[in-house]
Amino acid sequence: MVKDIECFAVKHGVYHCEGVPLTQLARAVGTPAYIYSQSALEANCAGLIRAFAGYPTLPCFAVKAMSNLTLLRHIFGAGFGADLVSGGELQRSLLAGARPDQIVFSGVGKQSEEIDQALAAGILMFNVESPYELDLIATLAGQRGQRAAVSLRVNPNIDAKTNAKIATGLYSTKFGLPEAALPPLLDRIGRDPHLELVGIGCHIGSQIVDIQPLRDAARQMVRLASHLQQQGHKLRYLDLGGGLGIRYDQEVPPSFSDYADALIQAVRPSGLHLIIEPGRALVGNTAILLTKVLGVKTTPERHFVIVDAAMNDLIRPTLYGSYHEISPVVAAAGGEEVLCDFVGPICETGDFLAKGRRMRLPAGGDLMLLRSCGAYGASMASQYNSRPRAPEVLVSGTSHQIVRRRETPAALWADELV
Ligand SMILES: Cc1ncc(COP(=O)(O)O)c(C=O)c1O
Repeated sequence: MVKDIECFAVKHGVYHCEGVPLTQLARAVGTPAYIYSQSALEANCAGLIRAFAGYPTLPCFAVKAMSNLTLLRHIFGAGFGADLVSGGELQRSLLAGARPDQIVFSGVGKQSEEIDQALAAGILMFNVESPYELDLIATLAGQRGQRAAVSLRVNPNIDAKTNAKIATGLYSTKFGLPEAALPPLLDRIGRDPHLELVGIGCHIGSQIVDIQPLRDAARQMVRLASHLQQQGHKLRYLDLGGGLGIRYDQEVPPSFSDYADALIQAVRPSGLHLIIEPGRALVGNTAILLTKVLGVKTTPERHFVIVDAAMNDLIRPTLYGSYHEISPVVAAAGGEEVLCDFVGPICETGDFLAKGRRMRLPAGGDLMLLRSCGAYGASMASQYNSRPRAPEVLVSGTSHQIVRRRETPAALWADELV
């Protein structure tokens, strides 16, 4: 994994993305804007592929983390398949050049049309999470005269030691199937000519920085796979999901090679083809959110720095209490440091991007950057308060390319009927 510091760095007192000063980008594309570094993306893609080179592995990028077509094209071009959770993500991925036979369809509530589209596309497999979903896939595959490849997503009841809102490996969450629920489903698959069991898998959560739960889940899945194989079930794939964390603040996540070593060591004895579904680890540190200070307001308790980005552009702080490092684009010398709360213009007290950050109080017009916004940044953006979504810009060397335009106000109501 590259350190974003290498691709987003201060040169001559001004933050750059690769060779482009962020001040220049702000003039060219306005603010707020997501700025991606192509070098960071390429280095991450190559690094992850290299880490798993010693074992047959299909890395399927979790499109939910970052779904821009141009960037997806780079990721698929680098050898990644796709991990999807909706028909929209399927269409996006196909448009961006994903190979259908490298697509896995995950998700807790797949709908008929989505399953049908995936069958038509000829995807690698469905990660099945509920008995009713298996019935639906069988019916739709039958109607098409097809045999659907399915992998059962197991809930291993493992605590991923991450934020509760993104932990998915415990029985208290809606995800996966408890091991005890598998026998009737395996019988069902065995009897149905329109279903084929190709694997099992799990995904225990996101932003996991402790390798142990990932290792435990891998070992548990390998034990289960071996048990099923002894019963005569033919498996090809073991899907261990995504979840590898990145450094937002002081976290020390496992490196790609430590992560790969842990999974491969667990999976190798099974001989199964490994699938992983990385999202955040591949793109999290490839982008920053560039924003401008609108003004400053001091109350008896706080210094509020009001910026033009808001929770609709970056929901993670509001939703999960997440930390994103915030810095001025142009470093100012001297001055007293105070605690600053960076907030957006949205009419919610929960609309904040960073709280209690010690720095010189910025002034109206200053540019700021929020780091590590490449994952679950633009892809979770909304138009709340009728705010057009911010553009996405890809920087390579000394040039930039707008890969998603700033949304126009007219697009906000284009689908409304009046
Ligand atoms: C099934 C599945 N796979 C992969 C991912 C990607 O996770 P991450 O971005 O943490 O790698 C998610 C995200 O929650 C997921 O639900």
